[in-house]
Amino acid sequence: MGLLFCDATYKIACIGSERVKIALGCDHGGLALKNEMVHWLAQAGHEVNDVGCHTEDSVDYPIFADKVCGEIIEGRSSFGILICGTGIGMSIAANRHRQIRAALCHEAFTARMSREHNDANVLCLGARVLGSALALDIVKSWLATEFAGGRHLRRIAMMG
Ligand code: RB5
Repeated sequence: MGLLFCDATYKIACIGSERVKIALGCDHGGLALKNEMVHWLAQAGHEVNDVGCHTEDSVDYPIFADKVCGEIIEGRSSFGILICGTGIGMSIAANRHRQIRAALCHEAFTARMSREHNDANVLCLGARVLGSALALDIVKSWLATEFAGGRHLRRIAMMG
């Protein structure tokens, strides 16, 4: 748990007055980063639902992508974070669900835009691509950004 820190300027993401419920999932390639994120998000005051995996045994990422997406589709979580080695498998698997808009991000700008323009409800990260400080920066930016609505709503509706 070396890296993770709570930053006083970080605004806990809210929807109305509710704190955001976040489902997290990973495969073996994302385990260490997922555990760090769970720890940090809980410390920051979020309600976290860790669907696994929980060991370094090799597992299949679609299983955990489906679990996190199910949490969102069934209304138990507002957002999901999925972590595998590259984030690619998780994003492909998550985007097979009609109600899911999963964004694979490697830096904070696209993370913010994925919320503001695309109303992304799942963030995918590659643990073999990102250092954990960068991953945390991406997550913080993503959670702190609201959907802009307007013309973007129409475009999202076209995919529904
Ligand atoms: C597992 O070795 C790796 O393939 C997986 O974590 C992910 O990168 C797939 O996209």
